[in-house]
Amino acid sequence: MQLLKTIENANLKPNIEKKIIDIFSTKSIDFEHRFLELTGDDLENLSKINSLIIENMDFLMDKFYDHLLEFKETKDIMLEKPGLVEHLREVHTSYFKELFSLKYDDNYLALRFNTGLTHLNVNIPFNVFMGSYSYFLSLVIYFIKDELPKRGFSHKEILNIVNSIQKIINLDITLVIRAYYSKEISEKEKLSDDFIKRLSRIAEFRDEDTGAHIERMSYYCMIIARYLGFDYDFQMDILEASPMHDIGKISIPDYILLKPAKLTDDEFEIMKTHTTKGYEILTGSDSKIMKFGAEIALSHHERYDGYGYPNRLKGEDIPISGRICIVSDVFDALTNKRIYKPAYSVEESISIMKNEMGVGKYFDPAVFDAFTKGFDDIMTIKNHYKS
Ligand SMILES: [Fe+2]
Ligand SMILES: [Fe+2]
Repeated sequence: MQLLKTIENANLKPNIEKKIIDIFSTKSIDFEHRFLELTGDDLENLSKINSLIIENMDFLMDKFYDHLLEFKETKDIMLEKPGLVEHLREVHTSYFKELFSLKYDDNYLALRFNTGLTHLNVNIPFNVFMGSYSYFLSLVIYFIKDELPKRGFSHKEILNIVNSIQKIINLDITLVIRAYYSKEISEKEKLSDDFIKRLSRIAEFRDEDTGAHIERMSYYCMIIARYLGFDYDFQMDILEASPMHDIGKISIPDYILLKPAKLTDDEFEIMKTHTTKGYEILTGSDSKIMKFGAEIALSHHERYDGYGYPNRLKGEDIPISGRICIVSDVFDALTNKRIYKPAYSVEESISIMKNEMGVGKYFDPAVFDAFTKGFDDIMTIKNHYKS
């Protein structure tokens, strides 16, 4: 059950969801307040003028809307549908009244994020949002500078109040534009994730007909990483990077890659180069995932006892990503049909891994132990992605 949830989450790009949750965590709210230095003094300053602003919101809105209707960009948006101006004015009125009601709690934060999403959904361009909001800020400040001297406020008091208004409005804008930012990031992450999978399939399609191998083995890697105790970020990184493990097969000629029999020694030597070729393809990138992919491509055939390839690394010298991948990759290769072998049952495959290949020989005992502990989850994935 927990795993099915994981699959769903992984498909929804959990990194993004996690970031959004982090943004709205209490710790983060503290950070916002400290970052913008919204202090008790600011709240006190704002409390001196908040009812004045709320009472005069209609006056401010008149000026705000006069201005918005002067510009082609905003006018076109607002006159698109009959009644839209009135509706937007109502929404903005309550929005700004709420801002000056000085209740900056979780509910306020969530509403600000939703406001950003609404702007995005109705395609309000970022510059239009920023431009109009900045104008509203200047309106409020001019209004306050006009009104407060009449009420006996000193010059110093007025400056302090204006400063606090600027801070709260900057904080408010920051919260709203998070929605724009998260959408942008989410699109980019989707694109790069998709790109990695498609790139990996170019290599896989030649010797593996469904492309399901990379789906399954990457989830196996994620599960093993979890049972080894790695944190969420590492689990997501290995999920994204491991599909690229065999990308170097693109350089292996068909007569070797598609040979329906055991390879000769010479052919096997060429086959082994898919690790170094994969590394060459992926190395040198600034992307964390690409770098991780390069490490995996190079190390996923290293054996724990030092008899693997290409560098005959031994034990802990083999990156943990490689030690995880070899278990996932071998289990999936054994349990599925390959051009040179039939599919073995799960029991037969485990027996081959334990007895013929060997824990401590091919596989890191700790990694194999995590594989065993996460076996129910592994089987859920196996059944979900049937080839
Ligand atoms: Fe490989
Ligand atoms: Fe593989």
